Amino acid sequence: MGWNSWNHFGRNVNDADVRAAADALVSSGMRDAGYIYVNIDDTWEGTRDAEGNIQSNEKFPDMKALADYVHSKGLKLGIYSSPGPKTCAGFEGSYGHEEQDARTYAAWGIDYLKYDLCSYRLILAQQADNLSAAQKDVLKQAVADPRQQRMVMMRMSDAYSPKQIETMKAAYEKMHQALAKTGRPIVFSLCQYGLGDVWKWGASVGGNAWRTTGDIRDNYGSMSAIGFGQLDIAQYAGPGHWNDPDMLEVGNGGMTADEYRTHMSLWALLAAPLLAGNDLSKMTPETLSILTNHDIIAVDQDALGKQADRVWASGAKEIWSRPLTGGAVAVGLFNRGDEATSVTLNFSNAGVRGPAKVRDLWAGKDLGRMRDTYTATVPRHGVVMLRLEP
Ligand code: GLA
Repeated sequence: MGWNSWNHFGRNVNDADVRAAADALVSSGMRDAGYIYVNIDDTWEGTRDAEGNIQSNEKFPDMKALADYVHSKGLKLGIYSSPGPKTCAGFEGSYGHEEQDARTYAAWGIDYLKYDLCSYRLILAQQADNLSAAQKDVLKQAVADPRQQRMVMMRMSDAYSPKQIETMKAAYEKMHQALAKTGRPIVFSLCQYGLGDVWKWGASVGGNAWRTTGDIRDNYGSMSAIGFGQLDIAQYAGPGHWNDPDMLEVGNGGMTADEYRTHMSLWALLAAPLLAGNDLSKMTPETLSILTNHDIIAVDQDALGKQADRVWASGAKEIWSRPLTGGAVAVGLFNRGDEATSVTLNFSNAGVRGPAKVRDLWAGKDLGRMRDTYTATVPRHGVVMLRLEP
């Protein structure tokens, strides 16, 4: 749990924004609710010095000082790079400098690395079968020229051969080894948009989390397509290695409060990393209350570490559930439709036989002991989140 700069600040993030985020995590109570990582995304990178050491650019005058500041608040600092020569925003990546970069991060006091495939896709593309000499040339040039990258990458296929998947795995393994060699514990977050069924191998290359999809946007269509799309991958998540459906958009303004509650509920059921992506220094009380609902956070962070799957669906109605420690179950009753509707949970669908104590997590209300079924009215694009304790 923590915060990441990308969803709100994008390319504009600077040292002051990151310090302000750290301050706000403390003053808002988010740190004490569990949000510990302060993660700088793309665009912090400067040039390499004569020895090849990566330097931060003018937006981040002193990374070590920033890390010290963040640590002094009881928080941890995250950073971002790519296995390719260039990051997605066209900045310096770690290609050919993996060990050196890992040592630099450790020396700065970095605690988390998001490692984003980006231009490494151009290297993978060169291994595609049946490429003509001309096509190979285009790819080689694009690796060297960031201006060409986006154009070329837009036309590339994302279906990878076993050989390409092995190459991609090796690139992540390389940085994993480099991080391990520093002796500093650094969370390793794989970002490659779910390519090559990463959930099947992410943990084997040291990934603590791996993105399962493309980038989230701050609207209901994008968020719900991602959240409800996480079917049949629950078995790959567990303590220390999680599926990551991308960072939170809660509080960025493009969704209603009900839609943001759906967002939080889905991510909690999915045992997803909770990385707030809003401007923490300007958030409304409602945004803060959605991000810090302790019953919802407890579902996300439950020690059993089992991810939810969909257990029932009919039209716009879906029920997702995940087992919790001690035999309890978290259940989300979702309404993807445009009108409020009633949704009935059959306890047996959530694996609960016999009576159970029921709590409505967003209402913060114990509903008492019930048996067999529970029916709730669910607002448009909304959710009723329950905890059942047999
Ligand atoms: C990719 C990632 C995003 C973000 C940007 C930064 O698109 O998926 O999360 O890190 O790159 O350039």
